[in-house]
Amino acid sequence: MYFFLDFRSVLVFIGQLLVLFYVIFVTKNWRFFKFAWHNNGFFFPMFPFIGTMYIAVIAGQRKNVIAMADFVQKYIGFPFNLWHGYDYYYFTQDPNEAKTLLHNLGAQNKGTVYNDIAYVFQDSLLTIEYKRWRLRRKEYAKCFKPSSLKMFSLDYYKGSSDFIREIMAQNGRQSLSYDDFTKYAFKNFFLTSLGLDKQPENMHRFGECLMQFQEDVAQKLLDPLTPVSMWYYLSPGGRNTAKNMKEITSISRQIFEDKTKQRADFKAFIEHEDNPALLDLMMSLKGTLLNDKNVLDDLVFFSAAASDTSGHFLMICFTLIGMFQDVQEKIYQEIVDLVGQKPILPDDVPKLEYIEAVVHETLRLFPVIPILSRKLDKDVDLGDKVIPKGSNVGISVYHIQRNPTYWPDPLKFDPTRFLPENASKIQPNTYMAFSSGPRDCLGKAQALCMLKITIASVVRNFKVLSKHKSVEEFKVMSALSLKTTHPLDCRFVPRTAELQHGSQEEI
Ligand code: HEM
Repeated sequence: MYFFLDFRSVLVFIGQLLVLFYVIFVTKNWRFFKFAWHNNGFFFPMFPFIGTMYIAVIAGQRKNVIAMADFVQKYIGFPFNLWHGYDYYYFTQDPNEAKTLLHNLGAQNKGTVYNDIAYVFQDSLLTIEYKRWRLRRKEYAKCFKPSSLKMFSLDYYKGSSDFIREIMAQNGRQSLSYDDFTKYAFKNFFLTSLGLDKQPENMHRFGECLMQFQEDVAQKLLDPLTPVSMWYYLSPGGRNTAKNMKEITSISRQIFEDKTKQRADFKAFIEHEDNPALLDLMMSLKGTLLNDKNVLDDLVFFSAAASDTSGHFLMICFTLIGMFQDVQEKIYQEIVDLVGQKPILPDDVPKLEYIEAVVHETLRLFPVIPILSRKLDKDVDLGDKVIPKGSNVGISVYHIQRNPTYWPDPLKFDPTRFLPENASKIQPNTYMAFSSGPRDCLGKAQALCMLKITIASVVRNFKVLSKHKSVEEFKVMSALSLKTTHPLDCRFVPRTAELQHGSQEEI
């Protein structure tokens, strides 16, 4: 009896605490509740610490932001309102709202969900606040000028030839994996944009640590229950991250030391160089715009931004090419008609229009960064509503790009949508795979160039095969960048002997 009374008192006490919590919380955050009420309301109750993130558990995949957004869309529809812990999020799939937000100068800081990443990369270009970001982006943009592409495309072609040699030996016996493509993209980035003239000894280890690091951080992102500092020190994933960061930092230091030796007079080099390599530029900014920690954080961030995105993209794109033989045939015809069996030269790349359309159509269906997020430091007027200062926004590029209102038969893999003659049929702001506005992808032109050369070069040498039949079979997940929840089947069988790699001329 006593136990029962005590238990009841405890329940009453918890109830009172909850009521008190709601009264204080709602009063403090009234402007968000008011805004949300007029915009599809709150249909999910929010709880202390976790907000509404328990939805991820109900949706069945706790670490999968797309599954969560799909679930809420099904029961509530867009726009919807969520609480990531105590942070308010307005989620939209409206292309005009997306454009207004991404271009508004009051919406250029990253959403609070990035704080977990910022804990690890405190001061990288990805996460720093807008005021400091502007100057840094302006400097880094010098390394991504279109004129750099001429130089890099020769290296991308060489990289694709090495890759071809590696997969030739397998003769289509086994599928390649996400890791295989991520390592390939990583190596390309190191030997081009970064400016290393040879592979550093421990580059593979750097790549492995980076991939593991991304896997672990992705696990943390949707979990507001565990504070990031506690996760970092106490959970296996966090401790693993700390260990990997330590190794990545030590390899990065070594890379910088080697580079310093290589260019004792690098400042003079920068002044005369139209397209400075990233590593040279970072070193020249050390002590002024960047400190030691910023340089290391940016090196890790750039390496991740360049490898994970392009690697995941290539795995999915080649699988689609293997599934849709008619698309593959058109790719093959384009490269053979325009370039033949010669090396792919910088001037050939812009001519590969169908291959470029394949890249965009893959990214439309599978945007590797499926959800963009920003935090508003001013009220932002969207025309029919004003989002209050302090809100976070989530922009579901994934849902915009699969919306039948803008994309007829949205799950059909049809690269012709992106051919120049059809460009006028694409409604504005309905394709944002590289984001939009000031904080869009800095590496877009380089990524496109590398991906086009890789696809052209590989399809010219191999028949790509996949046992998958339809886009609907792909179950996607994303915490950092999108991939499938299951391995993909994608094999490469060398084309006829005379077209095999042996016949490719060296540059
Ligand atoms: C398939 C390839 C790629 C895709 C789809 C992609 C997509 C994106 C997207 C959507 C963003 C914006 C994120 C946001 O708004 O929060 C971004 C940012 C960025 N990307 Fe890419 N990316 C790709 C490849 C690359 C490559 C190869 C590089 C470098 C060589 C790169 C460098 C960057 C950088 C530096 C940023 C941050 C820009 C800033 O905040 O100023 N990306 N990328």
